[in-house]
Amino acid sequence: MRTYPLYLAPMEDVTDPAFRMLCKRFGADRVYTEFVNADALVRDVASTTRKLQISDVERPVAIQIYGKDAASMAEAAQIVEQAKPDYIDINFGCPVKKVAGKGAGAGLLRDVPKMLEITKAVVSAVHTPVTAKTRLGWNDEQKIIVALAEALQDCGIQELAIHGRTRAQMYTGEADWSLIGEVKNNPRMHIPIIGNGDITTPQRAKECFDCYGVDAIMVGRATFGCPWIFEDMKHYLTTGELVPKRSMAWCVDILKEHVERSIEWIGDERKGIVHSRRHFANSPVFKGLYDFKQTRIALLRADTKEEVFSIMDEIVQKWG
Ligand SMILES: Cc1cc2nc3c(=O)[nH]c(=O)nc-3n(C[C@H](O)[C@H](O)[C@H](O)COP(=O)(O)O)c2cc1C
Repeated sequence: MRTYPLYLAPMEDVTDPAFRMLCKRFGADRVYTEFVNADALVRDVASTTRKLQISDVERPVAIQIYGKDAASMAEAAQIVEQAKPDYIDINFGCPVKKVAGKGAGAGLLRDVPKMLEITKAVVSAVHTPVTAKTRLGWNDEQKIIVALAEALQDCGIQELAIHGRTRAQMYTGEADWSLIGEVKNNPRMHIPIIGNGDITTPQRAKECFDCYGVDAIMVGRATFGCPWIFEDMKHYLTTGELVPKRSMAWCVDILKEHVERSIEWIGDERKGIVHSRRHFANSPVFKGLYDFKQTRIALLRADTKEEVFSIMDEIVQKWG
């Protein structure tokens, strides 16, 4: 029977243990840590090694690393292996200047021999399965993914995730899934291909599984303030029916739980709230509410749990 694995995409400052746990509860089939800097791991920087904290309930879990030097990436992978993740994922897709501009992440799309050297070094340094995540290419003129996927496979990676954008696109424009499909349908490819980019609804997830034949789909931004999206997508993929609209009170309870878990993870009430703001600011639960502006501002200014929760309760009373 066709299966429809759905993965939580790695996202810096987002996919911490608090959020991964929630996504897992709602059916994410694999979760990823945010990317972890290989050089900082090797230097044993405390704030970086903390990112390796994973727990059994979130399995299968991948820890993602990035860097530009094969030796330090191999050493970092060995450090990561001690945390016992199910996969070690290599980031070849981060487009931001401070990463790609320095020759790591998507920067390696301009230096494929180096990318392959890093991949081989990581694969041979560890026993844990190694996977990679990348983009279509550096820019429109260099969409190299079909040949690159074969070369990465030859280096021994076990799976490849592809975000259907180029580095030049950053996060703009639309993800182009046709090349992801081309990689998947290349008869020379035998490792699983994970498709990623702009999957925001159950229907779009189904369309991409059906049209492009990918082995799994990775969901990123659509999970903000909406960890239950995995359950919504799973339900539709397996039954063809949409989950009935969830009550606002139910959703707000989950958002509150996320705030609690963030505070617990960060160990500071105010910082935990600031950290989880991205989620409640972007939650689809609060989209399109009539005359909501002032309440939204108050919600985003609140910096105690009591205040945040009481505004959320008011929202449920007024709009729920
Ligand atoms: C805030 C944010 C942080 C991200 N951090 C990472 C990261 O650490 N590693 C990575 O491979 N991709 C990272 N990405 C890219 C996502 O994993 C994903 O490829 C991208 O958002 C496209 O998927 P989407 O359209 O479902 O959001 C990040 C994206 C966002 C929005």
